Amino acid sequence: MSSKPLAYILSTGMAVPKKVLTNHDLERMVETSDEWITERTGIKERHILEDGEVISTYAIEAGKACLSSAGVAPEEVDLIICATLTPDFLMPSLAILVQKGLKAERAGAFDLSATCSGFLYALAMANCVVAFKPSSKVLVIGAEALSRKTNWQDRSTCVLFGDGAGAVLVGRAQEGMNSGIIDFILGADGSNWELLTLKGGGSAFPPFDERLPKEDYYIKMQGREVFKVAVRMMEKVALELLERNNLNPEDIDLLIPHQANLRIIEYLRERLNLPKEKVMVNIHKYGNTSAASIPIALHEASLEGRLKRGDLVLMVSFGGGFTFAGVLMRW
Ligand code: UT7
Repeated sequence: MSSKPLAYILSTGMAVPKKVLTNHDLERMVETSDEWITERTGIKERHILEDGEVISTYAIEAGKACLSSAGVAPEEVDLIICATLTPDFLMPSLAILVQKGLKAERAGAFDLSATCSGFLYALAMANCVVAFKPSSKVLVIGAEALSRKTNWQDRSTCVLFGDGAGAVLVGRAQEGMNSGIIDFILGADGSNWELLTLKGGGSAFPPFDERLPKEDYYIKMQGREVFKVAVRMMEKVALELLERNNLNPEDIDLLIPHQANLRIIEYLRERLNLPKEKVMVNIHKYGNTSAASIPIALHEASLEGRLKRGDLVLMVSFGGGFTFAGVLMRW
């Protein structure tokens, strides 16, 4: 499928909590080492919420920065989509809190849950809204407080995750612009869902349900198995998106993969035969921030001058469920 670019990203923003948790801090909490974490994941530190803080504060801050960078007023926003696994509350949604916080009085607002692929799912939805109603401005935010769903006694997961928020504003590309979303893939495979779960607190096992072991109220993962599925799916999505748009890996100007593990990113880079400078990596600073990882990476790539209008950008993600997604666009 190849379509004329229509929706494009006008601007980006991000916000992360001030509190930094380093690998050395983790050495004092569980049996681990900076060496193990760095070698196996590429992570050096992550930002996490202080006690009493909420992730909506950062989602609002990222949204504000994004709107201000585009010179768009909150009342011009038509829709807010928040991709998150960890909203402040189940009701109201995180998107509603952002709508209130930004005073985006005309905007509709909803949350979207697709784990680490949530941001790319939401971006694809924003693309469809703009395609249907070209005057729309859609604020897409990926925001997570994974520290609140982390079992801090489980060394196989607690070293991985971080908190934060990233935002993009999506609107219609003007005639003659070489910017816009070209194509996307949204995928899911529930056959191995038990490899990565957060069971407690939903309607099967409401909070404090004693039938469920306490550990199941936190993220549980069979890391090695998840790793294998991740590398396979990310490569498949990337190659399929390129192939059906008559593009080759060497046409990519910047690959922005979900930041789950540096080894997964490196595997994908090698399979696509890309030089390091064509792959965005910031996992060392933030860990895995799930739905926030790609918009944060996109924002930093833009700040670092690694994106210029017209560049071919490929974003790919993978997460619990399993979900996977890819978005191909001209910046
Ligand atoms: O965001 C979406 C989904 N998530 C992912 O994509 C994550 C995918 N998985 C991974 O990134 C990796 O599998 C992990 C980083 C989670 C684990 O790395 P690994 O190389 O697959 O390690 P492993 O689970 O095979 O464990 C190897 C060893 C084990 O010890 P033994 O059994 O060999 O003695 C673990 O107990 O490393 C041990 N280990 C640790 N050692 C020190 C596990 N976690 C730690 C730790 N510190 N934090």
